[in-house]
Amino acid sequence: MKLLAFLMQTGGHIAGWRHPRAADNALCDMQYFQELARTAERGLFDGIFFADSVGYHPVKGEDIFACLETPKLEPGLVLAAIAATTRRIGLIATGSTTYGEPYDVARRFATLDHLSAGRAGWNIVTSTMENEAHNYGRDAHLGHSDRYARAAEFVDVACKLWDSWDDGAVLADKASGRYTDPSRITGLDHKGAYFRVAGPLNVPRSPQGHPVLVQAGASDTGKRFAARYAEVIFTSHPAKESAARFRTEMHELLAAEGRAADTLKIMPAITPIIGRTREEAAELQAQLDASIPSPVAISKLEGLLGNFDLSAYAPDDQLPPIPEAPNSTRDRVVELAQRERLSIRDLAQRVAAGRTSRTVVGTAHDVADELADWYQGGAADGFVISAPFLPAGLADFVDSVVPELQARGLFRREYEGETLRDHLGLARPANSFAADPSLRSKPEIW
Ligand SMILES: Cc1cc2nc3c(=O)[nH]c(=O)nc-3n(C[C@H](O)[C@H](O)[C@H](O)COP(=O)(O)O)c2cc1C
Repeated sequence: MKLLAFLMQTGGHIAGWRHPRAADNALCDMQYFQELARTAERGLFDGIFFADSVGYHPVKGEDIFACLETPKLEPGLVLAAIAATTRRIGLIATGSTTYGEPYDVARRFATLDHLSAGRAGWNIVTSTMENEAHNYGRDAHLGHSDRYARAAEFVDVACKLWDSWDDGAVLADKASGRYTDPSRITGLDHKGAYFRVAGPLNVPRSPQGHPVLVQAGASDTGKRFAARYAEVIFTSHPAKESAARFRTEMHELLAAEGRAADTLKIMPAITPIIGRTREEAAELQAQLDASIPSPVAISKLEGLLGNFDLSAYAPDDQLPPIPEAPNSTRDRVVELAQRERLSIRDLAQRVAAGRTSRTVVGTAHDVADELADWYQGGAADGFVISAPFLPAGLADFVDSVVPELQARGLFRREYEGETLRDHLGLARPANSFAADPSLRSKPEIW
């Protein structure tokens, strides 16, 4: 079983930050993040995972929570600080293909892969917020299909940049005076619909060849994109059945791309609420849920429904018809409301508390049972563990659930490899230019 630790701000529960065991105002503190990573490494996690966006993300109308999801240090820099105090754990950061340029992203992740000796992963997202567009000189967020077309070209260019130095292109030969072998460095001369990139990258090929490519986005277009590029999918399912259907469908799409099923690890998010007894766990969940002001929950729901205004409806009403939008999160929320016939208030509370992923409430034994059931039932290759509050929720998982999983033979007792690819059982990609020299072009010379 593979495990990633989701280090979402102060935790996976929207009100987790209010819990007495949550860290106090630590989101700009390097030691907070380093300690979280060391805890995950102590638990032998495959990696840690930072979500990210490039905009301000207030929850409409509620000052106390307004900035909860906003404080986000640049995750590549945070991971560099973490790389310095950890040795094995994988380091995954989100990077948008809708904003920014492939050269910057390729360079950032190649650098992180070098500095961490092969532990970098890139979570490829196409972004969701209008405010991000306004920060990057655009009037509006790109449309869904445009975003994915741009994402495909973005990732193609990034991969070519990582391959623009052959392994071994750096000679650093003091005797002959040759620092590099220019015949093993390739220009790109890329001129596409979205990007023009001369190349080569100014960073030699990194230990993993490419950072591990992670993807999050689950529309039909998103799934086809993942089948082509992703090595890990971070996904979100409220129940084992939908996770299993998703995994089966992804395996079919992978086969259509000529890829083997084990080249992609599918990892749903799970929020574990752990108690020494079931009663204690249920109490903790109730305490966390009671800390979410109702307007915050409804505002959160409106956001997940594509900023649909619910102010004309009473909290006890059922969800009105929500306009179709090509966004997989909206679909999952609507499906949840219909399946369980939830009122707006209850639906809002549910999605605010656990977003659209599964919250497992119980003892460490119960949590291990559920993870084992999903894993052995073909619903997951592993899990993104989103502790409800940090750092204590992650430490609870490491100290109580990990030993349960180990005792059942489901999880490692020590790291067996060095790189994130080693941990996840993913092959190091071949260099596309070394494999087919006809693709090479000479770097520009001034
Ligand atoms: C589980 C999950 C996690 C995501 N994490 C991020 C993130 O950290 N930052 C971001 O900008 N977008 C994130 N997204 C948004 C996606 O990249 C994508 O833009 C959005 O889901 C719409 O595409 P889709 O309809 O294919 O799902 C995430 C989506 C999912 C489903």
